[in-house]
Amino acid sequence: MAEKFIIKPSGPLKGQVEIGGAKNAVLPVLAGSILTGQHCRISNVPNLSDVESMSELVESLGGHITWNRAKGIIDADTTNLQKYDAAYELVGKLRASFLIIGPLLARLGRARVPLPGGCAIGTRPVDLHLKGLAAMGAEIEHVHGYVEAKAKHLTGAKIYLDFPSVGATETIMMAATLAKGQTIIENAAVEPEIVDLANFLNTAGAEVRGAGTDTIKITGQQGLKGTNHTVIPDRIEAGTFMVAAALTGGDVLLTNVMSDHVKPVTAKLKESNVQVEESQEGIRVNATSDQIIAADIKTLPYPGFPTDMQAQFMSLMAKAKGTSVITETVFENRFMQVGELKRMGAVIKIESRSAIIEGVDQLTGAQVNATDLRAGAALVLAALTAKESTEISGICHIDRGYHLLDVRLNQLGAKIERVKEG
Ligand code: UD1
Repeated sequence: MAEKFIIKPSGPLKGQVEIGGAKNAVLPVLAGSILTGQHCRISNVPNLSDVESMSELVESLGGHITWNRAKGIIDADTTNLQKYDAAYELVGKLRASFLIIGPLLARLGRARVPLPGGCAIGTRPVDLHLKGLAAMGAEIEHVHGYVEAKAKHLTGAKIYLDFPSVGATETIMMAATLAKGQTIIENAAVEPEIVDLANFLNTAGAEVRGAGTDTIKITGQQGLKGTNHTVIPDRIEAGTFMVAAALTGGDVLLTNVMSDHVKPVTAKLKESNVQVEESQEGIRVNATSDQIIAADIKTLPYPGFPTDMQAQFMSLMAKAKGTSVITETVFENRFMQVGELKRMGAVIKIESRSAIIEGVDQLTGAQVNATDLRAGAALVLAALTAKESTEISGICHIDRGYHLLDVRLNQLGAKIERVKEG
């Protein structure tokens, strides 16, 4: 049965929180495990419904997944994986599951994967993924809503991405590990999750060089082998807790976080008058003494401000002193939280790809709906400081990307109750 959050206003959040493994790193690594045809052990795996969906998909193709949730370890054995046909019901649950197309094609010479439809944040095409695979010699056909890709042998190619798409970079990088010859991806995405995937592939015997720069060179191998890999901490979960601390005037220490990966969020929080200190222990966010002031942001590919933090930052700006402008350049329709924040008393106007936010002294409680993962997180943050209690429905979206967000915020002093709907 669907659940909702009932959130009462909390005082300043205080204490320590440990950040989990990165959702957006573990999903491609799980897809990449298919390339090895052996046993891979993946550690620091967050307990999320998206990870469960990806695991189910790998299992549906003949892989064997054992997930020790308490320890955060997945054992993925794809020795007997033979199927190349991904079920619509499974891929429909999770866009990132389209990433299996590269590994299936490279290992089995064939892949049949449903085209992902639109989603709450835009149309999100996969043309760049397919352009890359076609350049490597794959025959691509669109049949009844599925992409059918075939290639006896993929061959290395030089591929320029029109946009540094994270997913397309991952698809091409994985496919290229088993292609004949060298593949060069130009204008590649440079996100930390790309580097993490390259590290995983390299320990599995691949030769991927330059991940983290805009040119990645992959020399194809005869085969890959099983390996162990620990995924990086989740920079978006970290950023969300940082904004939660700032918004409530709190003082929170985040552990298991890579400070380099949250630099754009740190910079914008500092510009908004929040103290952020890095130490051996982690990152401490302290907003106990100063009024938050407005700061403008523009979302960009890494190392620019992450689109996945845009909604949460908007909640902070909704209560900041002054007017801020948030410009979304990565996705065309990513202001789904605006209507809901306005119902909570925020003053926001949308003009094309920008939102203009006039900070108010006080947000008010309301019944709101989480339309997608990050929009949902933004509503939770806003509700922490609203005057009355707030009810958030659609929290299954939040559970896709945050493990027990309610419980972990409550440990810092929040008052969030999870109840069954209806
Ligand atoms: C990944 C992240 C997501 C994040 C996004 C941008 C995962 C599982 N998800 O999504 O959380 O918000 O990066 O940082 O890692 N595009 C095309 N054609 C393509 C591919 C993408 O036009 O073939 C466009 C998209 O519509 C979008 C932009 O490129 O406007 C960025 O998309 P992309 O970087 O591919 O994001 P995802 O990999 O889907």
